[in-house]
Amino acid sequence: MATKLAVRNDKESHHSANEIHGSEAVSKTLTQGVTDLLDLRMQVKQAHWNIAGSSFFGVHKLLDKLAEELDATIDTTAERQRSLGFITHGTARHVAKNSSLKQLAAETQAIPEVVNHLVDLYLTVGEATKEGIRLADEEEDPGTSDMLVDCLRMLDQHRYLLQSYLMQSE
Ligand SMILES: [Fe+2]
Repeated sequence: MATKLAVRNDKESHHSANEIHGSEAVSKTLTQGVTDLLDLRMQVKQAHWNIAGSSFFGVHKLLDKLAEELDATIDTTAERQRSLGFITHGTARHVAKNSSLKQLAAETQAIPEVVNHLVDLYLTVGEATKEGIRLADEEEDPGTSDMLVDCLRMLDQHRYLLQSYLMQSE
């Protein structure tokens, strides 16, 4: 017990939460990932509120479920960034300035048009996530790579759920 306390009080052994444990390149990818996932989450919610059409209730409910799952993934990704010792950026201002995603006019309400747009966003974020996996593997960061694989699986599932609605309305 005494030894443990002595170690804890030793300044040499004090580690800060900002101590770097990952590569700058991986951190940059995670910053963009959190930014785009936050934008995607907000656009999913925007669609949840504004869509209108005969399949309204099903799509409205589905979009809420997708937003909830995106929230959990955003949290995991942002905290991974912290685990690597980097600062995470999740403010609306940062997202508005740095997102790489397109957006629809707020007046767009037709379900096929809105869902098609969301499918495009999922494809864009999915491609960037695949790039991130390749980079994390190159940088020998299996923790980040594995987390991004989970993220990619979620993005693929969301895309397929949305595409299934498009088939229904064709
Ligand atoms: Fe709601």
